[in-house]
Amino acid sequence: MDAFFETPGFADTLRAAGRDRLLSRVTMQIQSGGIPRALEAYAAASTPNIVLLELGSRDLELERSKLESFAEACDVDTKVIVAGSTNDVDFYRWLRENGVSDYLLLPTGDAAVVDVLYRAMNIGRSAGRVIAFLGAKGGVGSSVLCHHVAAETARKSGKPSLLVDLDVGFGTAALNFDLTPLKGVAELLFSSVAGEAEAVEKFVLRADSNLSLIGTGASLLRGIAITPEHIERTIRRFRESYSYTFLDLPHEWSDWIRNALIDVDDIVVVAAPDIAGLRNTKAMFEALRQMRPNDEDPRLILNMAGVRGRQELRARDFQAAAGKEPDLVMPFAPETFSEAATEGKLIFDVAARSAEARKLQNFAGVVVPNLRVDTTESGNLMSRLFSKSKA
Ligand SMILES: Nc1ncnc2c1ncn2[C@@H]1O[C@H](COP(=O)(O)OP(=O)(O)O)[C@@H](O)[C@H]1O
Ligand SMILES: [Mg+2]
Repeated sequence: MDAFFETPGFADTLRAAGRDRLLSRVTMQIQSGGIPRALEAYAAASTPNIVLLELGSRDLELERSKLESFAEACDVDTKVIVAGSTNDVDFYRWLRENGVSDYLLLPTGDAAVVDVLYRAMNIGRSAGRVIAFLGAKGGVGSSVLCHHVAAETARKSGKPSLLVDLDVGFGTAALNFDLTPLKGVAELLFSSVAGEAEAVEKFVLRADSNLSLIGTGASLLRGIAITPEHIERTIRRFRESYSYTFLDLPHEWSDWIRNALIDVDDIVVVAAPDIAGLRNTKAMFEALRQMRPNDEDPRLILNMAGVRGRQELRARDFQAAAGKEPDLVMPFAPETFSEAATEGKLIFDVAARSAEARKLQNFAGVVVPNLRVDTTESGNLMSRLFSKSKA
């Protein structure tokens, strides 16, 4: 897209909007000179997908005639957004009748600019939330914690939720829910004929009443490479169908993983309290902050803390190195975790009253805001009365 501003204030707003994560793949050229400069620019070149024009004055007659000449230079499939400080219904109507897709009333903040651009690009902000879990190292519990947080979110929110195992060929999501994956994520992502035409629902297993699961059941004999374009498209489809989607990512730093990390709403990094965990967490936080400058920091879990006899780093060491205090410190609890894994159950089921279960439940409320107010506390009076009378 190209943007032609008239005032330096709006140029700053445009630059701030351009740093938004979902616009990070949009090539945004910001130039001064307003409509006259745009006319020069497109005298010989064709117009891009989106052109944003700031009006140079409040003289509506003059601005109308400039826009009319611009319309002649503009390709039919280019979306035109106009920004100006005039608040006039007739002018607005005239713009719409003449094919302008949106009018930004100035002054405005970068959030409003981002919204208008999302609209022009058909990116829905209101669609479902996507949360990715990623280990700072392999084997640190990223998957198992992801599965628990997904299950807790589905249960407490009561909203359709999806857990996607992206550790193609090696994933444990289906195992952890005692399910056998039939058609896995690999098929969904790569048999583009079937995958594109059919609803995501066709590929899922039911793990719990509100939790669907896409497990990996791919044969290791067939090589599978997820591409950045595939993951982007698939995440968009998940978002359309589910309120919450949890991506269980393998421990890699490839192109498609980086693309996924740009697309998701929230990231949870899981690290073990050792030197490699610390170093990788620091590197990942630095990279993620650069990739997502307008977003909050990722969440950080320190997992498997307190192994007897092991020298361990602490939360404050992570705070010092990565600039992020862990949101959750999870103790090493081999009995609980291995019992759950062996039975294909969650620790909420095998050890409902354990500290680990409680910590994970609280953490789900941190990752997915508003989750906590949904049920337990507000509770339903009748059910509380019943539970009392039963006791
Ligand atoms: N806090 C913990 N205490 C004990 N065992 C754990 C803990 N967290 C995870 N595990 C176990 O560690 C193993 C590896 O976990 P997994 O989630 O597959 O790691 P990753 O996805 O990071 O490779 C699993 O057997 C899991 O049950
Ligand atoms: Mg894993």
